[in-house]
Amino acid sequence: MSDDRKHGFETRAIHVGQAPDTATGATIVPIYQTTTFTQNAIGEHHGFEYSRGHNPTRDALEECIASLEGGRFGLAYASGMAAISGVTQLLSAGDHVVVADDLYGGTYRLFSQVLPRFGVGFSWVDATRIDEVDRAVRPETKLIWIESPTNPMLRLIDIAACGDIAKRNGCRLVVDNTFATPYLQNPLELGAHLSVHSTTKFIGGHSDVIGGAVVIDDEELNERLRFTRNTTGGIPGPWDAWLTLRGLKTLSVRMREHARNAARVAEFLIERPDVEQVHYPGLPDHPGHELARRQMRGFGAVVTFDIRGGAAAAHRFCRETRLFALAEGLGGIESLIGYPFLMSHGAFPADEKRRKGIGEATIRLSVGIEDADDLCDDLAGAFERAASAE
Ligand SMILES: Cc1ncc(COP(=O)(O)O)c(C=O)c1O
Repeated sequence: MSDDRKHGFETRAIHVGQAPDTATGATIVPIYQTTTFTQNAIGEHHGFEYSRGHNPTRDALEECIASLEGGRFGLAYASGMAAISGVTQLLSAGDHVVVADDLYGGTYRLFSQVLPRFGVGFSWVDATRIDEVDRAVRPETKLIWIESPTNPMLRLIDIAACGDIAKRNGCRLVVDNTFATPYLQNPLELGAHLSVHSTTKFIGGHSDVIGGAVVIDDEELNERLRFTRNTTGGIPGPWDAWLTLRGLKTLSVRMREHARNAARVAEFLIERPDVEQVHYPGLPDHPGHELARRQMRGFGAVVTFDIRGGAAAAHRFCRETRLFALAEGLGGIESLIGYPFLMSHGAFPADEKRRKGIGEATIRLSVGIEDADDLCDDLAGAFERAASAE
């Protein structure tokens, strides 16, 4: 099926870009594990020459993800970071980026330690305050870069308001949509120009494939990104593209279960005397709750909380869960627990982290799709075991 926006999300996830194989009738898109394609005569071929430029398995993934994200063009990358750096390759020395200061540690590392060496300037702002974004834009600003909800504090940033600022100033808004996924939020429809993803997370969904994607609506941008990706080479292999496409097919069902379980876990945590604060946009007293209701169709699967007792309590707790595995990453069907201060956000200076609210007592949960009672029991057991280990 080609992209037909009359069809619902679930139908497009299973069919767009995934017509039966024309050569064999294979119902499922084959893994075209080939670097090259034989030509009938010089320049006479079936649209494929060399897999860095185009590969049919990757093309299927790109068509499908573009449809789900509501854009005309999708590009798949070797990782979320490859997608992010692919977008930044649109920049030249002297260009400037306004960036929300609450973002994934790897993006922070790229923006603070790599790109400044190439003459790109950055202004870091608290983008929950739209006036700060507006004030930071300069004549040489080319991109405004945000995540919403943010990793790991789950703050909400007003995508439409940032999109207006970008349009007024002739620059482009990039939204890292990894946490929400196209199922819960479509930045392009809200006024963003580029939506970027670590497909490693909910889109792949099974913690078994690293990948990234960019979705855009603009033809010129598509051509520039494709040229740069082909030139610099950050593509996923056909096997990884296939696994990611398989994940994409079940994104809607998984996200519904993830979000249902996350809400249960958040409600469980707010009742615990050993918890100082719970950060989850689905909670009515979360500062971004109303905005989340406006720009998202659900609140996602990540729940962050601050445990009472500081670093020692957090370290003890992270050792004591049995179902929640202590591991980097998020977005798989299995529940994970992480300690942003030293793990995902270890790249940030300590005082920066504390300023953003990422403290030594902060714990991030990626809530999987196991039985919700079992997950809450696991957390309750970990609180008890951690307290008795004091
Ligand atoms: C919001 C966000 N963006 C980008 C990335 C980078 O993705 P990858 O690990 O696939 O390179 C991550 C990784 O955790 C992330 O959480």
